[in-house]
Amino acid sequence: MEDFYDLVLKLTQATRNHERYRDQECINMIASEGIKSPAVKEMQAFASDLEGRYAEGENDLLGHVKKRYYQGQKYMSPIEDYATDLMKGLFKAEWADVRIVSGTHANLATFKGLSSSSKNRKMVVTPLSCGAHISHDYTGLAGSVLGIEDINHVYNINEMNIDPDRSADVIRAAKPGIVTFGGSLFLFPHPIKELKEVCDEVGAYVVYDASHVLGLVAGGVFQDPLREGADFISSSTHKTFPGPQGGVIMSNGPTTPRMEKAIKKVQHAVFPLSASSTHLGRLPALSIAALEMKLFGNDLAKQIVKNAQTAGQYLYENGVKVLCEHKGFTRSHQIAVDIRAFGGGNKIAQDLEDANIIINKNLLPYDDQSSKGDPSGLRVGFQDVTRRGFKEGDVKHFCDLILDVIKAKRKPAEVQKDIINLRKEFSQIKYGFQNVEEALVYIKKL
Ligand SMILES: Cc1ncc(COP(=O)(O)O)c(C=O)c1O
Repeated sequence: MEDFYDLVLKLTQATRNHERYRDQECINMIASEGIKSPAVKEMQAFASDLEGRYAEGENDLLGHVKKRYYQGQKYMSPIEDYATDLMKGLFKAEWADVRIVSGTHANLATFKGLSSSSKNRKMVVTPLSCGAHISHDYTGLAGSVLGIEDINHVYNINEMNIDPDRSADVIRAAKPGIVTFGGSLFLFPHPIKELKEVCDEVGAYVVYDASHVLGLVAGGVFQDPLREGADFISSSTHKTFPGPQGGVIMSNGPTTPRMEKAIKKVQHAVFPLSASSTHLGRLPALSIAALEMKLFGNDLAKQIVKNAQTAGQYLYENGVKVLCEHKGFTRSHQIAVDIRAFGGGNKIAQDLEDANIIINKNLLPYDDQSSKGDPSGLRVGFQDVTRRGFKEGDVKHFCDLILDVIKAKRKPAEVQKDIINLRKEFSQIKYGFQNVEEALVYIKKL
């Protein structure tokens, strides 16, 4: 083993290098990564004592603190209640649980709670190959940890969406306890409204995994799951929603005995079943992010989608196969690109990385699912560049640089210089606050 002290020095240096490289020198197009404002970061640093505390206990049917097993909660319980109410207010939800540490944890508690509430271990989900998250799948959390039997929605690859008519037949035949919508490769709103009736008919709870699109939902675009028929939203808080890494579960509340039972089971699945420390240090920062989305979320979300659509059109016009041209490419923050004609996902993602453009390769629904190492596709997200201020013209200019790399017109190392300069031009985070004081002054004036 290397010398212990040497490892600390190297790790410190690598951390400094990382912060400079990814935060200042690269342009980030990873669709699952969020971007926090300086005010959110400041609040995160400010809450450093809270970050180390424990608050095990139970919550009531409004999502508020009911009982805590630790002392010293004088301010912690109100902080949790305030954060809960801010998330409820932003999403017009009647119940929320903010004790969730990640999107996977949100799914764990939701799927566990609802499968015990319905006493039914079957769940209908989007196929993994068509954009579901691994935590929905029988090979991941749902199947391998919770023992849930997955049955797949029928997915229409041409439409890049769930086929509502054929999935209704699947739900009717399978009679699952849970029907899940949402995913990781997620271009178009899922047909919750269309399938709500059949879910009710078989007694299935409807779950919407909003991890990718929570910021768009907060901004009032894409879709409104709780109004369209979702019983629960299960989500990360750090992708298009620009909060700290964490999670949340929300619902329309204990409107019926069935929903009351479900909420209690989900809460039990959070604590004591799956969390001890609930990482409360996130909550003040989450609250600032909620405020930013309340004030600026609609403008931000609209621009994110506009930028994604602009890139789809521009790349398509320039000979790149962006999926779903007939549907305007996307209605979310992502576009999906079939890059086989230029060497495949692995090569192009690496070439782009060499130019400091960080994009991930992605399996497309029609790929051989065992070719994870070299899939056909790229999944490209626009939430980061939009928050840095990109408008449609900037997106086209940026796409020109991407095209230079994809079409091997210039060496990645040459393009890298342009990317570092472009990144410098967009150094301020928009649609948010530069510090906490600015946020407080702003809301006092409202
Ligand atoms: C749809 C979906 N759900 C859940 C998750 C897991 O979220 P987390 O990384 O916060 O655990 C992801 C991650 O990308 C996701 O795409």
